[in-house]
Amino acid sequence: MDLNDFSVGGVVDTMLEVPIVPSFTRIGYETRKRVDGWTDLSDYDLTGRTMVVTGATSGLGRAAAEQLARCGATVIVVGRSADRNQGVVDQIIAETGNPAVSQVAADMGRPDEVRALADRILSDHERLDVLAHNAGALTNERENAPDGTESTVAAQVIGPFLLTTLLLDRLIESAPSRVLTMSSGGMYSTGLTVNKLEMPADDYRGTEQYARAKRAQVTLNEMWAERFGGQGVHFHALHPGWADTPGVDRSLPTFSKVVGPLLRTAEQGADTLVWLAADDEALDTNGSFWLDRRIRPIHKLGSTRRNDTPDRRRQLWDWVVERSGVDPADRAG
Ligand SMILES: NC(=O)c1ccc[n+]([C@@H]2O[C@H](COP(=O)([O-])OP(=O)(O)OC[C@H]3O[C@@H](n4cnc5c(N)ncnc54)[C@H](OP(=O)(O)O)[C@@H]3O)[C@@H](O)[C@H]2O)c1
Repeated sequence: MDLNDFSVGGVVDTMLEVPIVPSFTRIGYETRKRVDGWTDLSDYDLTGRTMVVTGATSGLGRAAAEQLARCGATVIVVGRSADRNQGVVDQIIAETGNPAVSQVAADMGRPDEVRALADRILSDHERLDVLAHNAGALTNERENAPDGTESTVAAQVIGPFLLTTLLLDRLIESAPSRVLTMSSGGMYSTGLTVNKLEMPADDYRGTEQYARAKRAQVTLNEMWAERFGGQGVHFHALHPGWADTPGVDRSLPTFSKVVGPLLRTAEQGADTLVWLAADDEALDTNGSFWLDRRIRPIHKLGSTRRNDTPDRRRQLWDWVVERSGVDPADRAG
């Protein structure tokens, strides 16, 4: 919300943003699109740009990968199953006529698979323009990654940090490049925590665990930008509002039923991800957090703002360096 923006779009946007229901549902999407006069995504020509989308077999990532391919990008689909990935690749090629779509299977919660994914990208692609961290799930029962890490944190905090680090040199060589992280408006409810980032089995609540991981994502996004933004890599986090996807249906069935017709389509939820991958406006800032093509605050509550201290941020960075086994400071000059 930009309280200094008194344009018609700015005022309407502020009225939508204060109560979250109209803002996060398709009402927010449709109103902002109309009032702000958005460029149609099909107007972007992304020929020659290489883009990785994790979680591209379903929901938002699937919609984003298809739109990016339709704009001519070289797209790498990442999901956990090679068969599922290949099915999506075949469909996208058939629907868009763009043959430059391929896949790599990797579980973002398994460091060995993330490392193999990075090796494949580096060996198969000379440049990397966009790395979109979209893979994610809200799990109602605590699940562990093979190394014992809570699965939400493993796949949405540690795995993306590892992958960005392993691809950082290629992103810098390809500058201006972009690293995009699909967070969630759910993170507004919770403050930054490091020692309680992984919830224990006896006090596990899926929505709270998810919010903590998503809060860590937006914090790390800002820290990446501060530390490496000067080298031509633009880091942005975003949230999609509430979109009707298989993931929401599975994890939040009651919510999905109640909000039902007001949910955005997957394409609407993916719009800002595609726009950030395509539009030069993403190169004007670094470390921003977005909804519907506008920069948003990362805090709406005083309590979460108070928790977000420089010390805690440093602890988070050190923690994820330790847990991922890589330090980006050692990789890029
Ligand atoms: N839909 C919403 O309203 C909403 C709201 C806020 C935030 N989000 C965020 O948006 C992103 C996409 O969600 P969605 O609603 O589109 O969910 P979805 O339909 O369940 O799609 C999730 C995607 O992530 C992949 N994935 C899940 N865990 C993975 C792992 N460990 N490693 C690699 N890939 C993995 C899945 O692929 P495979 O199963 O093929 O591996 C699938 O392609 C998530 O980060 C989610 O938190 C969504």
